Amino acid sequence: MSCNLEKRPKNAYSVVSLFAGCGGLDLGFLGGFNYLDVSYEALQFRVIEAHDFNEKAIETYRLNIGEHAAVTDLTAIDVARLPSADVLLGGFPCQDFSSSGKKQGLNGSRGQLYTVMTDYMRTHRPKVVVAENVPHLARLADGEYLRTIVNDFEGAGYNFDVWELYAPDYGISQSRRRLIFFGIRKDLGYPPAPPKPTHANQHLPIEHALHDLVGVEDESVTNQSQYFVATRATSGGGQGDHSNVRGKVAYCIRANAKARIQFHYELDRRLTVRECARLQSFPDQFVFPFSAMINMEQIGNAVPPVLAHHVAKVVAKTLQSIDDGLVLPSSSCRNINLQSDLFECAAHAV
Ligand SMILES: C[S@@+](CC[C@H](N)C(=O)[O-])C[C@H]1O[C@@H](n2cnc3c(N)ncnc32)[C@H](O)[C@@H]1O
Repeated sequence: MSCNLEKRPKNAYSVVSLFAGCGGLDLGFLGGFNYLDVSYEALQFRVIEAHDFNEKAIETYRLNIGEHAAVTDLTAIDVARLPSADVLLGGFPCQDFSSSGKKQGLNGSRGQLYTVMTDYMRTHRPKVVVAENVPHLARLADGEYLRTIVNDFEGAGYNFDVWELYAPDYGISQSRRRLIFFGIRKDLGYPPAPPKPTHANQHLPIEHALHDLVGVEDESVTNQSQYFVATRATSGGGQGDHSNVRGKVAYCIRANAKARIQFHYELDRRLTVRECARLQSFPDQFVFPFSAMINMEQIGNAVPPVLAHHVAKVVAKTLQSIDDGLVLPSSSCRNINLQSDLFECAAHAV
């Protein structure tokens, strides 16, 4: 294992992770890693099973996080065969919802995959559920898709809130917004407030994450020699051909960027795989073992581990309150009623 994740706190809460990808969300829950000289402590979670149907993503997961990950097509699974856990995680596929995807929504081939999570809730009754998707989901069909998903989740016996989190507010130098669906089993109370931003109005610019890599062209930092040499499109000013700007956060790292990954803020080339991993807050010890194309896709698909860690700390506190017999108060602001200013991550850096 590349990340030092073996030591788990005693009495850890069990977690089942669906659509786990290369493990960005799971790494945040586990904690126990360093990112840019900041230590993110090990949290009291133990992922007992992680599933994804992408063999290469699972290989990356197993290489870096642990052997509990399996290649599974979740459309074909009998959820009763999954283990029960305290926490269910699921970054259910977002391609059909993303602004850069085909926008087929719930009618798309992957639009219904969130129902695997609903089935798991009905069967195994986890205490807390955390699902993740793109903010654009909230804008589709005037919010109808989001309402349908939340209604289905709540119909399984849970109270849900939906948070829109902006990665730079948590010290991540990348313009990335994500929806977090936070659910608590109805007999246990209501979702708490979202994690408090650590860097509101103090966003860290791209060079904060990348400056020490300028001049590193070899594998002395793993994945730093991997980058695309594709030239800029001659017309259209295509997405992915932007140059980052010193002093600002980076553009969003897209999962479907193919070779069109944004350019460096100082050097005349596109970002390397390691630089993209850095902007997603993966520790340098987290290794991506495939071609640049596949590595970039895994990185772009991930929840930034640091962002996930902030969410995980709220989950840990919530579970502790439940254990202590405290009824969770209703959160003061229920975010489900869609904000009109939701932005899609592929838009612009601020
Ligand atoms: C947004 S990514 C999840 C990223 C992950 N949460 C992370 O933080 O790294 C969605 C994942 O769903 C997976 N997926 C899509 N359809 C699937 C299916 N039918 N069965 C299992 N996994 C599937 C994809 O391979 C992809 O890794």
